[in-house]
Amino acid sequence: MRKQIVAGNWKMNNDLSQTESLISELKKIKKTSHAEVMVAPTFTNLLNAVVALKSSDIEVVAQNMHFAENGAYTGEISASMLKSVGVKTVILGHSERRAYFNETDDMLAKKVDAALANSMRVIFCFGEELADRKSGNHEQVVESQIKNALFHLEASAFQNIVLAYEPVWAIGTGETASPEQAQDMHAFIRKTLSNKYGNTVANSVSILYGGSVKPSNAQEIFSKPDVDGGLIGGAALKATDFFAIVNAF
Ligand code: 13P
Repeated sequence: MRKQIVAGNWKMNNDLSQTESLISELKKIKKTSHAEVMVAPTFTNLLNAVVALKSSDIEVVAQNMHFAENGAYTGEISASMLKSVGVKTVILGHSERRAYFNETDDMLAKKVDAALANSMRVIFCFGEELADRKSGNHEQVVESQIKNALFHLEASAFQNIVLAYEPVWAIGTGETASPEQAQDMHAFIRKTLSNKYGNTVANSVSILYGGSVKPSNAQEIFSKPDVDGGLIGGAALKATDFFAIVNAF
């Protein structure tokens, strides 16, 4: 059985006291689904979040990391630094990192390698832009993002990889991919994995959908057979909305 996962990407939101109050709200809500739950606060709040969520079943994950172990990379954070504060999972390849910080497929391949070498789990994000979707190139774009950053890996590495399909045109826009568009793309992603690594690997990897998921549309999106959960932005900043999405499974 593939894991069902709902992860909240808080992006560059919430200072320390806002992070602590959101966490205390989250801890009050009862989880009624089997989904694994994760939240990704900003770097400065990771340690406090790990401590605050220690005895809960909400995992704290990071939004990014550098590929080097340490050294002269001003402003960057390494895998071992994340691990030292109790973080075991990292989001890599978010479209905002690609668009605003020039993260390339090559750089992401190195980041994935560094995370896996440090026994971390990776939530690897990718997705097409609106122009790709309009020109009918969306599958090609997604296939090349996955191949370029991940297909140098051994099959066993996929035990520690979660994929997150996030069409750029649906992020923060209020426009969601239809459940059918999400399912079609997720099935395509699974087929791409299967062609390279076989059915067993392809069927074991969780593929999350991200892009304007909210309480009102989560259930329909999550009901699709190849959608194994969601990566949630805006709606993850409100505890009741986030848990309505978690409990949509
Ligand atoms: P929104 O849910 O705000 O569209 O953001 C999605 C996202 O980018 C999660 O990583």
